[in-house]
Formats: sequence, structure tokens, C-alpha cells
Amino acid sequence: MLFRNKPDLTENDVTSKGLYLRRREFIRLGAGVLGAMTLGGLACGPAMAARSLKIVKKTNLTPDEKLTNYDAVVGYNNFYEFGTGKTDPAENAKGFVTDPWSVKIDGEVEKPGIYALEDLIDFNQLEQRIYRLRCVEAWSMVIPWIGVPLACVMKKVAPLSKAKYVAFETLLDPKQMPGQHRSVLNWPYREGLRMDEAAHDLTFLAVGLFDDILPNQNGAPVRLVVPWKYGFKSIKSIVRISFTEQQPPTSWNMLAPREYGFYANVNPAVSHPRWSQATERRIGNFFRQDTLPFNGYAEQVAGLYSGMDLRKNY
Ligand code: MTE
Repeated sequence: MLFRNKPDLTENDVTSKGLYLRRREFIRLGAGVLGAMTLGGLACGPAMAARSLKIVKKTNLTPDEKLTNYDAVVGYNNFYEFGTGKTDPAENAKGFVTDPWSVKIDGEVEKPGIYALEDLIDFNQLEQRIYRLRCVEAWSMVIPWIGVPLACVMKKVAPLSKAKYVAFETLLDPKQMPGQHRSVLNWPYREGLRMDEAAHDLTFLAVGLFDDILPNQNGAPVRLVVPWKYGFKSIKSIVRISFTEQQPPTSWNMLAPREYGFYANVNPAVSHPRWSQATERRIGNFFRQDTLPFNGYAEQVAGLYSGMDLRKNY
């Protein structure tokens, strides 16, 4: 992104799991309390009143690749609200309060409102998804996320047919997020997707990773994960989801439109103006590797862009 001259990850950059592991008191609810409802083929459940972590399905979309070391996943981050250095978020987000948490749903939607996180996401019907994460800076990881397809939340709030895009916003709270005192970006951090991208089954709202609730530095308590797009689309600590007719403004695109497009699909054939996107540094590996079109998920998502010029719509 703006800061390209950071050294590669070293042993000193990562922090022990014990230091950052923040287990909430999980409230285990009996499995029989609420049954799953199947909505349009997705296992979308009803709202729950507590943040337990009950995984009912596991899908590995990166079967032949090894998981990135947990310490790197929680110790090497981009979360500019907590600083621009890779280890700043883990250090500066320690006291970030994420419970209680609510998300405002507004715009072209049948059921707008301010929802408690537990009313939006069914913590009794979580899935694990193992995805590659490819940062626009050309490093990558393989992460087991825990969450629900965004489509589940969309079904719950019922967007109107007028809605063509979904816009997301991160919390704006400079008291808690010291990085927001500097105008590195136009805060709050904003991202957006086209409706069909948002409704795609791979588009995920994560509330956990590995076996734990989401660490603060990874975007607690809820963040987007769009595995075929550069990591900056995967907005963290979401407080607002709006359904819009027009393409919403997005933070990196507002800052440098020539460098960061709205689509931001991983594309080894289109270089960033300041560096190539043909290869990537998988954190933990010695040799660089080729970057795959759509980050390896072309089979699932290329159809969303048929007829589009992906050099223009970068
Ligand atoms: N979301 C917010 N709110 N602020 C950020 O700075 N950084 C993005 C994305 N989401 C960012 C954000 C970028 S550039 C990347 S690569 C991923 O988060 C990194 O996610 P990770 O730290 O969990 O690996």
C-alpha cells in the first residue's frame, strides 16, 4: 500500500499465541435449542443471543497448501486504524472493546435497523472456511476463518431489488483507534461490493479464525473476507452495511484511484503501478510463488465478470 519498504517478516515480528489469544467466556448453548433453517440452499440459522463458536461445517478451499502459522496471522497485520506498521495492530488493539457490538443496516433494504451482532450472525451455525488471503502488497497467507456467508445476513435483512451494491464501514472512534488521528486514509475505512459479488457463496463474514473468536488486530468482532480479491476489500470491524443503487466510494480507491480499483480482483496480469502482481511472498515460505487469477478461485467467480474488461475494471 503506501509503505512498501517494510522488511520481510522476521521471527521478531511475530508474537506468541498466548500473548494475543483472547478467549471470551464461551456460552455453550444446547445443540437442540435452535434448529438450522435452510434458506435458499444456505444453512442460515435464526438469531442467537450469545457469542458461542459452534462450527457445523468445514470447507477447505486450499486443500494442498499448508496453513499459515497462527503467530503470523495474528502478528503481521494491516489495520491502519491501529497504526501502519505490521505489528502495530496487535500492539495497539489490545484494549479495543468489541462486546457489545452493533451493526447498522440501512439503504435499499426491507429490514433496516441497528442490529446486535448476535442478532445478525447465528453463532450456532458457523462454518470454517480455509481461504488464501492475498494482499495487494504481494504477500499472502492461508487462514482458517470461522463465520457465515454474507448471503445469510443479506437474507435476514432482505435487500430490495433496487439495491445494486453493498457498502461497508469500519468503526470510527479515534479514542480507541489511535491511527485515526492521522489522515492516512479518509476515515472511516469504507469498502463495497456489487450485489452479485456480495451474494456469492465464497463471500464470508468472519467472527473467528483458527479455533478462536477473531483477535482484535484481525478485525474483531466481525470482518469481511472476499478471497478472490486483494485483502484491502476484506474490511475489518464492521459497524455499517448499506445497500445502495450507486457504486459506493471505497477508501483506497478514494486515496489513489489509479492504484486501487473498486473491483480489486487478484490478477497477476495487471501490475500495480509501482510493483508487479505476478508473484507473491507466502508468509512462512522461502521462495516466492506465482499469483493465480482470482487468487485461485477463478472456477467459482470468473463468471461474475464475463464480458468485462478486467484491465479497465481493476
Ligand atoms: N480493514 C480496515 N478497517 N482497516 C485496514 O487497514 N486493511 C486491509 C484489510 N482490511 C484494513 C482492513 C488490508 S490492506 C488487508 S491485506 C487485510 O485487511 C489484512 O487482514 P489481516 O490483518 O487479518 O491479515
